[in-house]
Amino acid sequence: MSKKKILITGTAGFIGFHLAERMLNENWEVVGYDNINNYYDVKLKYARLREAGIDRDAIEYGKLVQSSIYPNYRFIKANLEDCSLMENLFQKEQFDVVCNLAAQAGVRYSIENPRVYVQSNLVGFVNILECCRHNQIKHLVYASSSSVYGNSDKVPFSEDDRVDYPVSLYAATKKANELMAHTYSHLYQLSTTGLRFFTVYGPWGRPDMAPMLFAKAIAEGKPIKVFNNGDMMRDFTYITDIIEGIVRVIEAIPGKGGEHPYYQIFNIGCSNPVRLMDFIVMMEKAMRKKAVLEMCPMQKGDVKRTFADSNNIYTKMNYLPSFSLKNGIEEFTNWYITYEDNVKRTFGNFN
Ligand SMILES: NC(=O)c1ccc[n+]([C@@H]2O[C@H](COP(=O)([O-])OP(=O)(O)OC[C@H]3O[C@@H](n4cnc5c(N)ncnc54)[C@H](O)[C@@H]3O)[C@@H](O)[C@H]2O)c1
Repeated sequence: MSKKKILITGTAGFIGFHLAERMLNENWEVVGYDNINNYYDVKLKYARLREAGIDRDAIEYGKLVQSSIYPNYRFIKANLEDCSLMENLFQKEQFDVVCNLAAQAGVRYSIENPRVYVQSNLVGFVNILECCRHNQIKHLVYASSSSVYGNSDKVPFSEDDRVDYPVSLYAATKKANELMAHTYSHLYQLSTTGLRFFTVYGPWGRPDMAPMLFAKAIAEGKPIKVFNNGDMMRDFTYITDIIEGIVRVIEAIPGKGGEHPYYQIFNIGCSNPVRLMDFIVMMEKAMRKKAVLEMCPMQKGDVKRTFADSNNIYTKMNYLPSFSLKNGIEEFTNWYITYEDNVKRTFGNFN
């Protein structure tokens, strides 16, 4: 690709923040897009933006803000649902590639707040698709999720498995994204790639997810809620591996041969599931501190295990995750101890 300009949505969020940094360092021109919602503490979102040179005071809805660190980075605060704003932005900026990571995330929250998922993940995603088709976007890459596999007994989870039985509305919206993307690939030859991420952890992580919740509880000597009495397995995947997977995929534009030439789906996961209790023990070791455990029943909408089959992305993109759980946990907890303190000093406590 000669001209390299990308729209990344969700850049105040965990994965979007890391992807923007990587693309900027590879000299892409990046526009970041996020509504900075308060699903979790916005102080963490502003801290991530600040890390990328976007000053909180300069942020205004609908206005592009220039980064003070990266000359090739601008950020806009906006809703995915705002179709006129998004259409204008696409027309003005003429992106080559779009990576949609903005979404209402979280399985448990979708039980209590179904409507926000419809707005961000369905209405918002249709806007992305429409803008891509109207503006000759070369490739739309978007976040799906391992949650589309539901409570499937067949492991590892492969992209060829049937995924018709989601157990949360969050998962249902992610599956819906894949279906909608297929329609646009079929009708308009829009090249789309859906990425099913498996439990992502690492620096600047999500405070509603187990790794950040565990690190915080261990650091503060507070109880960790262990759901389903610890009888759960997760295929934890380190953020650097996730970003490497996304970057490999971005330039591999689907459009040749096969039954669905413009449409593809990949798992991105470590393929090394671990029991929750073993994960906690590894965190205790890395943080040199015992955890206090509070055993709890299974939560509605949760799945008992996740396990990625990585064959597809390995065969087609020559991609394999490289972080062992031990290395990933060490890097993550080192960050937690130092950087979280820095963030706290600047912004106050975040939840
Ligand atoms: N983190 C994981 O383990 C994981 C696993 C599977 C899938 N995913 C998916 O990957 C993507 C990124 O996840 P993350 O962990 O970085 O989550 P995140 O919540 O940290 O980031 C998402 C960002 O999107 C923004 N956003 C939400 N709704 C929006 C809207 N309507 N308009 C504009 N911005 C909006 C939020 O403000 C947030 O900053 C999401 O689509 C998520 O569903 C994440």
